[in-house]
Amino acid sequence: MTAISNEKIPNNVNLSEDKKLQRALEQWQPNFINWWNEMGPEGFQSRNVYLRTAISTDVEGWAHYDFVRMPEYRWGIFLADAVPDRKIGFGDVIGQPVWQDVPGEHRNTLRRLIVTQGDTEPASVEQQRMLGHSCPSLYDMRNLFQVNVEEGRHLWAMVYLLQRFFGRDGREEAEGLLERRSGNQDKPRILGAFNEPCEDWLSFMMFTMFTDRDGKYQLLALAESGFDPLSRTTRFMLTEEAHHMFVGETGIGRIVQRTSALMKEAKNEDVRTLGGIDLATIQKYLNLWYSLSLDLFGSEISTNAASFFASGLKGRAKEEKFADHVAMEGVYPMDVPKPGSGEMQREEVPLRSAMNEVLRDGYVDDCQRGVDRWNKVLRDAGHAHELKLPSRRFHRQQGIFSGMHFDTNGNRLTAEQWAAKRDAFLPSAADRAYVKSLQGKAIVEPGKMANWIAPPPRGVNAKPVEFEYVRTDGQGQA
Ligand SMILES: [Fe+2]
Ligand SMILES: [Fe+2]
Repeated sequence: MTAISNEKIPNNVNLSEDKKLQRALEQWQPNFINWWNEMGPEGFQSRNVYLRTAISTDVEGWAHYDFVRMPEYRWGIFLADAVPDRKIGFGDVIGQPVWQDVPGEHRNTLRRLIVTQGDTEPASVEQQRMLGHSCPSLYDMRNLFQVNVEEGRHLWAMVYLLQRFFGRDGREEAEGLLERRSGNQDKPRILGAFNEPCEDWLSFMMFTMFTDRDGKYQLLALAESGFDPLSRTTRFMLTEEAHHMFVGETGIGRIVQRTSALMKEAKNEDVRTLGGIDLATIQKYLNLWYSLSLDLFGSEISTNAASFFASGLKGRAKEEKFADHVAMEGVYPMDVPKPGSGEMQREEVPLRSAMNEVLRDGYVDDCQRGVDRWNKVLRDAGHAHELKLPSRRFHRQQGIFSGMHFDTNGNRLTAEQWAAKRDAFLPSAADRAYVKSLQGKAIVEPGKMANWIAPPPRGVNAKPVEFEYVRTDGQGQA
């Protein structure tokens, strides 16, 4: 009996007819399950979890909820519907029909783009694997596991592309995606933020707010790709990514709401005395995960980004919003540190070389809208304190500001000044210890919330908040 069938792997890529792909997946799938059992949510693999599974790309197939044990989750392979007669919408190849196969000259670059995206998916599952043990509620635990299985599905999506279109190299890369490990010295994940520890729920919610949102922008840019299967895969992934950012944004929103209630009770901002998370600590975690996520867009000035754009491989988010899709003539004015002095100097960067920065602009605006909603919670409760996105120069390890120090307003600091102020900007060891101390054990009584977070306004899929989203008895009924 084969492990690969339409029943086990919901798909719209004609898997039952594609023997070559079936064989490749048959080899890979047991390794994926081994990886999932080893690196997926620790301690909860035999629980029945109320999860959404995509079984087709239409609205109904998408909203399929049931109790399932995570290792039995049906990870599917879906492409968004094809756009008839789709043409490449940007770059030197604008107006040409999209490619249904990989053009030979772009093979290595496309493979690299897909592997880099694919590597982030299992990485985040690894980063989050212990969090079930400290969840603030069953509702939140279920959301964590939903995010985890969907990142697993995103991995499947990228593995499909590698195995279907990149032959033997693709099959090797698909194995490599299961071999690297987040935070491992010898075989780390490819990108920095995906090697950072994510050991408490404040980090998890900042991660899904800021790091998954980088994912959204990368997927939007790849959705423009002239390689049509990549475009269609990423368009479908975006529907799942929206839920991950929902978990982050509303999660932090609920923490802010609870903190604001505790501030009233305490009659000051020091809510630690009442077992809450103070705004200063929330701000430091925000500074950390936002700056780590900004790095994921790559350097402000990038010849790689220029060539991805020129060759129609990776566009801008929502390319149709821009007037000029060739971007040969435009410039992007940018403050660039002068070599040596580090003094800022205005430079006009050719637009194509600034494509990472253009994508980052959209991301920053999107983050700001979320922060505005958190600040509205504070304002509505009568507090003057606001949360803020730090300057893009702050705490950067990639790009033109890396190797320099800035405060959160973007003012240059010496190494000594930075060392003295670091713990005022970023979570200190004491802050981390405090946040962890609030999350010593999982809150698993249905409907109950940890003291540091407000309940959500509603449950999942019209179920009440106090629904038993994760079952302890091994039995589950919707
Ligand atoms: Fe993902
Ligand atoms: Fe995600």
